[in-house]
Amino acid sequence: MTTPTIELKPSSSPLSDAEREAILTSPGFGRHFTDHMVTIKWTEGRGWHDGQLVPYGPLSFDPATSVLHYAQEIFEGLKAYRQPDGSVATFRPDRNALRFQSSARRLAMPELPVETFVEACDALIQQDKAWVPAHGGEESLYLRPFMIATEVGLGVRPANEYLFIVIASPAGAYFPGGVKPVSIWLSEDRVRAVPGGMGDAKTGGNYAASLLAQAEATAKGCDQVCYLDAVEHKWVEELGGMNLYFVYGDRIVTPTLSGSILEGVTRDSLLSVARDLGYGSEEARISSDQWRRDAENGTLTEVFACGTAAVITPVGTVKSAAGEWQQSGGGPGEVTLKLREALLNIQRGVSKDPHNWMHPV
Ligand code: COI
Repeated sequence: MTTPTIELKPSSSPLSDAEREAILTSPGFGRHFTDHMVTIKWTEGRGWHDGQLVPYGPLSFDPATSVLHYAQEIFEGLKAYRQPDGSVATFRPDRNALRFQSSARRLAMPELPVETFVEACDALIQQDKAWVPAHGGEESLYLRPFMIATEVGLGVRPANEYLFIVIASPAGAYFPGGVKPVSIWLSEDRVRAVPGGMGDAKTGGNYAASLLAQAEATAKGCDQVCYLDAVEHKWVEELGGMNLYFVYGDRIVTPTLSGSILEGVTRDSLLSVARDLGYGSEEARISSDQWRRDAENGTLTEVFACGTAAVITPVGTVKSAAGEWQQSGGGPGEVTLKLREALLNIQRGVSKDPHNWMHPV
């Protein structure tokens, strides 16, 4: 695999400082994009080539481009944080790069070298540094690397041309309520992914498959859908776009990776952060019956969702066809908040980074 250099073609019409500052005061999630993007091509027989940092803008495709028909697409999400000295650092970009390679293998796409993935993110951040929100708050710059099949033709087979792109978007809280607990609809019939499928790959198809169940959750008055496993319809897997943790006093438990669960970088990090704080942390299978029983008998003290976009968000009400129950007395739990603060402090550069997770840009 060759590593292409990334050639700069700066935007001639970036937003003005005033326009950018207005956006950064309240960015929301995924609504605004920075002035540039990185693009790198891959062609059969040639490998990765033509790395460019170009003005952010529309892409133009032939209607027969294969991604539009057979959905050969993968993506990642990672964040860059303003540090106390004004510099910028990303959180575990190498881990996202490795997951990107694993998603590529599952979808029969070429693997981008880890160093090229990290270099592309760094190049975009360096160019659009002014878009990284100020230090101290909850805001960050969300990076969205993705890859699509660009060969033109309707034959169903792995494409022989691909385009890797990185775009960036200033991000506030994913859920508008911030740390206000979200409500969950436990979907007992719709499944997100099946064993042997592509549930552990970060590909748009998994998110498309989640939208109907998410719409049903919304219709039930819930913020997110929670999926059970596809075989027994019994074991808790994950939410529409994030992983789950169960807090049993001073022990946190997340569903064991089953092959149909996406291995979240935040999920993985929290296994270590919890131990650093003196809590127990483990992976285990948890059934929906156990969830309800333990919430009702009080042994399950808190539940929270986690992901790059969601950070750590407490779960309050859970609804299912069988009824409804409540965790943490309806407010964010103590362990949830401690873990959230500890993780954010590492990311914001205000506490030690014992695992060397932060990557200076
Ligand atoms: C992320 O957390 O980065 C994701 O890709 C999930 C998506 C719901 C925004």
